Amino acid sequence: MTFIPEALIQSYVYPVFLASNDEELITRMCYGTLIYAFLTLVLPEAPYGRYTNYKFGFGVPVKLAWCLQECPSFIIPVCLVVYGKQTAYRGVVNQMCLGMFVMHYFQRSFIYPLVMKSQRPVPFLTFFCAFLTCSYNGILHGLYFVNFCHYKNEEWMYSPTFYIGFALFLYGMKINLGADSTLKNLRSGNETGYKIPTGGLFERISCPNYFGEIVEMWGYALASLAPPAAAHAVFTTLFLSRRALQHHQWYLKKFEDYPKNRKAIFPFLL
Ligand SMILES: NC(=O)c1ccc[n+]([C@@H]2O[C@H](COP(=O)([O-])OP(=O)(O)OC[C@H]3O[C@@H](n4cnc5c(N)ncnc54)[C@H](OP(=O)(O)O)[C@@H]3O)[C@@H](O)[C@H]2O)c1
Repeated sequence: MTFIPEALIQSYVYPVFLASNDEELITRMCYGTLIYAFLTLVLPEAPYGRYTNYKFGFGVPVKLAWCLQECPSFIIPVCLVVYGKQTAYRGVVNQMCLGMFVMHYFQRSFIYPLVMKSQRPVPFLTFFCAFLTCSYNGILHGLYFVNFCHYKNEEWMYSPTFYIGFALFLYGMKINLGADSTLKNLRSGNETGYKIPTGGLFERISCPNYFGEIVEMWGYALASLAPPAAAHAVFTTLFLSRRALQHHQWYLKKFEDYPKNRKAIFPFLL
C-alpha cells in the first residue's frame, strides 16, 4: 500500500537532500536547520511587523499570512500520523514529543492569527520563507517522531530529562502566550501605534514573548533529546535573539523614557 504523504516526501524531498533512507534524510535536514540558523544572523533582518518593507513583495493580509505560513508545521505531522505507516508513533513518548510540537504550531497557526491586532500585511517574500521553513520543519519533526525514533517508553517516561523538559516546555509556553497577550492588549480598536509594554517579565526584558518561545523549544529538545528538536531550539534562539536585539534598539530610539535597566531577551544577561 502507498502512503501518500510518505510517497510525496520520497519523491520530492529525498532527491533534494540526496538521501536514500529516512536516517540519511533526517541527519541532513538537521544540518540544514543549523546552517539556516547561522545564516539568519547574516541575512537581512526579517522585514515584517514594525520593520515591514514592501520591496520584499506585495503585502499578504496579516492574519491569512500567519495562518498559511505556520500551518504546515501542524498539518504535515498530522497527515503523517493519520495516513502514514506509523512505524514508531505507537509509543507514548513519541506521541507526547510530537504532541508538544503540533500543539505549539496549532496555537501559532489557528489561534494567534485570530486574536492578533496587527494590521500590517506581510511582504510576500517574508511570508514565503516562513512557509518553506514551516513545511521543512513539519517534514523533519513529523518523520522523526512518526516513523523513525523508537523510545524505550518505560525508561524514558521516568527520566529526569523528560519531565524537566516537559515542564520547561509548558513554562515557556505560558510566558510566550502571556507576553503575546500583553502586547495585544496595548492596542484598542483599530490602533496601529506602539507603546511601552509593562508588567511581568517586560520589567526585565524587551521581548518576553521571544524568551518564552526559546524556553519552550529547549524544553521540547530536553524532553525528546531529539536532534531535530535541538537543531530547532538553536534556530529559534539565534533568530529570535537577533530580532529581540533589533526590537530593543528600536524601543530605545523611539521612546526617550524607555527603561534603561531592561535587557533585550535574557533577564540580566543580554
Ligand atoms: N520560532 C520562531 O522562529 C519564531 C519566529 C517569529 C515569531 N515567532 C513567534 O511568533 C509570535 C509573534 O512574533 P513577532 O515577531 O510578530 O512578535 P512582535 O514583533 O513582538 O509582535 C507581536 C505582536 O504585538 C504587536 N506589538 C509588538 N510590540 C508592540 C508594542 N510595543 N505596542 C503595540 N503593539 C506591539 C505587533 O504588532 P505589529 O505587527 O504591528 O508590529 C504584533 O501584532 C511570538 O510569539 C514569537 O515568539 C517565532
